[in-house]
Amino acid sequence: MVINYFENLLKRNTIFKAEDTLDINYIPERLPHREKELSLLSQLFISLITTPNTLSRKILISGNTGIGKTATIKIFGNMLQSTAHKRAINIKYIHINCRKERTSYKVLISIIRGIESNFPKRGYSPQDLLETILNILQHKNLHLLLVLDELNYLINKDGDLIYSLTRLYDDSYNCPQRISIIGIVRDLSCLNNLDSSTISTLQNNIIKFNKYSVEQINDILEYRIRLGLKADTVNNDLLKMLSEITYEKGDLRYGLNILWKACKIAENKQLNYLSTECLRLANQESVPYSIHDLLKYMKQEKLLLLLSITILLKNTKTPSVSLSEILEQYHIICENIKKNPKSYSQLWNYINEFKKEGLISIELKSKNIQGRRSYIKILDISLMNLENLIHKILKKKGVIL
Ligand SMILES: Nc1ncnc2c1ncn2[C@@H]1O[C@H](COP(=O)(O)OP(=O)(O)OP(=O)(O)O)[C@@H](O)[C@H]1O
Ligand SMILES: [Mg+2]
Repeated sequence: MVINYFENLLKRNTIFKAEDTLDINYIPERLPHREKELSLLSQLFISLITTPNTLSRKILISGNTGIGKTATIKIFGNMLQSTAHKRAINIKYIHINCRKERTSYKVLISIIRGIESNFPKRGYSPQDLLETILNILQHKNLHLLLVLDELNYLINKDGDLIYSLTRLYDDSYNCPQRISIIGIVRDLSCLNNLDSSTISTLQNNIIKFNKYSVEQINDILEYRIRLGLKADTVNNDLLKMLSEITYEKGDLRYGLNILWKACKIAENKQLNYLSTECLRLANQESVPYSIHDLLKYMKQEKLLLLLSITILLKNTKTPSVSLSEILEQYHIICENIKKNPKSYSQLWNYINEFKKEGLISIELKSKNIQGRRSYIKILDISLMNLENLIHKILKKKGVIL
């Protein structure tokens, strides 16, 4: 009989509630820990609603990658537009990604298409296009909130448009101001390529988005998990581990991505929850070359200790294991291969070396007692792959377990 793979997949239980909400391009309704920025932006832009077209705002947003700049501004733009519409005030929010629309011409065409359908594409210079935009705005009594995301791409290639946009109403006195601009950049150093007067205009209003702390990432991922996955799919320990990995990479996109991948792995294993091993596999599909190299030259007794940690972690559902459990496991392995175990202080040194080598992290659960109350965690590597690799290297050294 022919197997119908679709039917099989459709019969399978899923752990997703709304898979699309874990997509990195999905904009959730709320953005935990960006309330302050949203509130500040609203205060800066409220006059666009209270006294329409009397002033134009120019704001620059800066901050590292994957910390919610685009998401915050998208929510803000839609909020401004809809609040204005409720009061019969015409504000149009247009979000342009300058990495995709890399020239002034392309940016201007995107703006026109946003405010006027059926505009012929060819035969205009950027100057013509800018004038056309101003005419349309005047004619429709419209105020444009123009967001230029990843603005550095445009600055590096073609700074003229920014110059024109920031100068638009300089020569006119008392006329309606119809364009406000929010530029988004990761790093302010790209501004150096602009002329000094444009820099000073933009530098007047910079809002710096700070990196999220690990606790904030925890809250955000918890919220995204609640949106996307069925209840009780991810326990607190796993959420904490995911948050730490995400914090280390500094990019929420990475966290959302491995979360989704881990869920797919869990489904393939027919689990109805996310296990730590699924997350590890998603985080690192294979052992990186640098770790291969590190283990290849590692002393036998140190490898045995690492193997003990790996085996223990693989067999528990928690993301970390205590040092006492590790020592117990290590002694069992030594007994099996008839080797004398190393002393406690030597093993503790190895543990600290693992930490320096970036293989493990150590968490002290009780401040007063050194060593034995430490909890050890392997963050970045799939345990199954790591265990296989250690076995292979030990075998080459003549140790067969
Ligand atoms: N506070 C938050 N709450 C919920 N999701 C968030 C939050 N902050 C960021 N995200 C999510 O994280 C992902 C990355 O955010 P975003 O795309 O806004 O980053 P960015 O700062 O614009 O990065 P880049 O500089 O690389 O463009 C998105 O999927 C976004 O929905
Ligand atoms: Mg962005």
